[in-house]
Amino acid sequence: MRAIQIVSETGPDEALAIVELAEPEPSHMLTPGEGVVVDVHVAGVSFPELLQTRGQYQVKPPLPFVPGSEVGGVVRSAPDGAAVAPGDRVAAFCALGGWAETVVAPEFFTFPLHADLDFAQGAALILNYHTAYFSLVLRGGLKAGETVLVHGAAGGVGTASLQVAKGHGASTIALVSSDDKERVAREAGADEVVRVEEGWKDRVLELSGGGVDVVLDPVGGDRFTDSLRSLREDGRLIVVGFTGGSIPEVRVNRLLLKNLSVVGAGWGAYVMGKPQLNREIGAAVGKLVDEGFVRPIVGGRFPFERAADALKTLDERRATGKVVLEVR
Ligand SMILES: NC(=O)c1ccc[n+]([C@@H]2O[C@H](COP(=O)([O-])OP(=O)(O)OC[C@H]3O[C@@H](n4cnc5c(N)ncnc54)[C@H](OP(=O)(O)O)[C@@H]3O)[C@@H](O)[C@H]2O)c1
Repeated sequence: MRAIQIVSETGPDEALAIVELAEPEPSHMLTPGEGVVVDVHVAGVSFPELLQTRGQYQVKPPLPFVPGSEVGGVVRSAPDGAAVAPGDRVAAFCALGGWAETVVAPEFFTFPLHADLDFAQGAALILNYHTAYFSLVLRGGLKAGETVLVHGAAGGVGTASLQVAKGHGASTIALVSSDDKERVAREAGADEVVRVEEGWKDRVLELSGGGVDVVLDPVGGDRFTDSLRSLREDGRLIVVGFTGGSIPEVRVNRLLLKNLSVVGAGWGAYVMGKPQLNREIGAAVGKLVDEGFVRPIVGGRFPFERAADALKTLDERRATGKVVLEVR
């Protein structure tokens, strides 16, 4: 089968190679000896793969390795008791190995793909939407009627968070940096859109009538203090990532003064060893798909051969929604 390997840690332009590899056995590292074998149609492209081309991600398999954490495809074989069967269209989270024609995923990370979603949307469904649900609902305790501010709102995690928040009856304010991203955030269902450069904190306070209940932050960096200032009493700031490049520090007196919480949300490490939790999050996200709230936005579709260009859209802050590779 054809696959893409990361062969060095020299950045997206140099680090990738298309190779011919043997097809995988039906076994996944999280479920040794068994797994769902999926013929990949579309593979997702995400920030971790970009960081892996530079050796900067916490998951560092020995070189060379096939990256790619999630796919949309068709089941070739499944273990007894799996919720999917050969021939089913699925969204699958494989953690690694997805940038290939065939991959193996744990059965608890393989979900039937709704008829209204295409394979690219399937490849956009698990990492971002499970993270959004985990962050907003399980870690952030989001309730209907609350208001959520989403940083990086036109990105993968951002668009997913807008849709999950709306599905939970929350109001949403999207923070973005360009016209194009404003359009995408509105497409994802943002009630209000604020531009980063316009003195965003005051605008958010105005739009929310004095402060939001939850800030969902995949960006970090120098926005952090203004994010705390954007919260109302009892507000929660959910730390999801650091695309802005720097890891902020918090002066905890700000938390005391307004009774705020800063909450970490690290989806991957938390859920990997918890099959039942993944099934529950999958069911919750599936319900939001059925209800029409979740419709992944695919902002960039690249042929397999142009994986480096796909990564560079993330690196250069040009990506909107989910970026994917078309595999077959
Ligand atoms: N905690 C978890 O469990 C978890 C799970 C999945 C992903 N993540 C992390 O979440 C982050 C976002 O992932 P994503 O897939 O949503 O990425 P993405 O699609 O590239 O979106 C990231 C957004 O960050 C904003 N941004 C601000 N400064 C940036 C910069 N210097 N470079 C690039 N983007 C910048 C951009 O929005 P504006 O231009 O509008 O500001 C961009 O749209 C990543 O750090 C990822 O590793 C965490």
